[in-house]
Amino acid sequence: MVSVAVLGAAGGIGQPLSLLLKLNVNVTKLNLYDIVNVPGVAADISHVSTNAEVKSFLGPGQLDEAVSKIDLAIIPAGVPRKPGMTRDDLFKINAGIVKTLVEKIAENSPRAFIAVISNPVNSTVPIAAEVLKAKGVFDARRLFGVTTLDVVRASRFVRDVRANTDAAALRVPVVGGHSGNTIVPLLSLASSPVELSEAEVKELTHRIQFGGDEVVKAKDGAGSATLSMAYAGARFADSLMRAMKGEQVVEPTFISLSADPEGAKEIRQLGAGDLEFFAVPVKLGANGVESIVPLGGQPTEFEREAIKVSAQALATNIDTGVNFVKSA
Ligand code: NAD
Ligand code: LMR
Repeated sequence: MVSVAVLGAAGGIGQPLSLLLKLNVNVTKLNLYDIVNVPGVAADISHVSTNAEVKSFLGPGQLDEAVSKIDLAIIPAGVPRKPGMTRDDLFKINAGIVKTLVEKIAENSPRAFIAVISNPVNSTVPIAAEVLKAKGVFDARRLFGVTTLDVVRASRFVRDVRANTDAAALRVPVVGGHSGNTIVPLLSLASSPVELSEAEVKELTHRIQFGGDEVVKAKDGAGSATLSMAYAGARFADSLMRAMKGEQVVEPTFISLSADPEGAKEIRQLGAGDLEFFAVPVKLGANGVESIVPLGGQPTEFEREAIKVSAQALATNIDTGVNFVKSA
């Protein structure tokens, strides 16, 4: 019995993500919101023979209704990259979009879980947190930056160099943020051991950090990852919904470490320092973040160095997001 709103539902991610959510038996209501084209998308998806009720919401005049009485809002609204751009180049446009959408969620469904996909995630999640704080409804356990695509890529890219790996079963903890060298895959702490040479670890780490660029380059001006992202977003949403029903599920995600100050000590000591936000493996429960999960071992020297590099870049990204709201 979960009511979900997808904000940016007519986009490259929004359409396949909405379709995958329509197939999820835990979704009972699916509110699709966009500023263009969403009636057609909603009509189309509504014919799929599952029980979820699909509704279309078009434009700012229907936004309040789109986010009323929802349990989960997923936000893929905003512009994607073109070749030559960094995710930070999207900030100018996407920061305002995310701010407005989160304001409306805070006013209409203050207890809803919010999963932010819009880039730059390293800054849009701090924006969302500041908006929720200003509205007096911030709960660190309920706000997530979706970094699942990094985890998905890590599993798949390991299989590209070790064909005996089951890409669907292997879990690599990915910590830090969601852009370039802020993404830190901890290959040494994968769910089942993978023997890799030093050179392979370096190459794989680089590929996971810059996996998004492969898609941006291949799409050649037509955007960035949409289908793999829809899969990753649907997987994260499914984890959250299973957790809402009482199952305990672990997913790495970019959160405010204030959700579990005790559990955050490990990553802080490894280099996250006093940053408020960092992606960490999280145990999800009925109220969102139940705890930050211990990494389960000591990262290698190479990984510890990467965490420090990530934290340095993240500090700026987080400040940019916080200041955007504070100076508005
Ligand atoms: P897209 O351009 O195909 O779709 C974006 C949609 O957002 C469009 O339908 C657009 O009309 C809508 N939109 C724009 N302004 C809006 C507003 N104010 N309210 C509601 N909807 C609005 O882009 P896409 O490929 O779907 O990517 C969307 C975002 O997701 C981008 O910022 C991209 O960088 C990001 N992304 C994140 C990840 C991740 O891992 N977190 C992965 C891939 C893409
Ligand atoms: C990704 O990792 O694919 C997304 O963040 C989109 C991008 O800009 O690369």
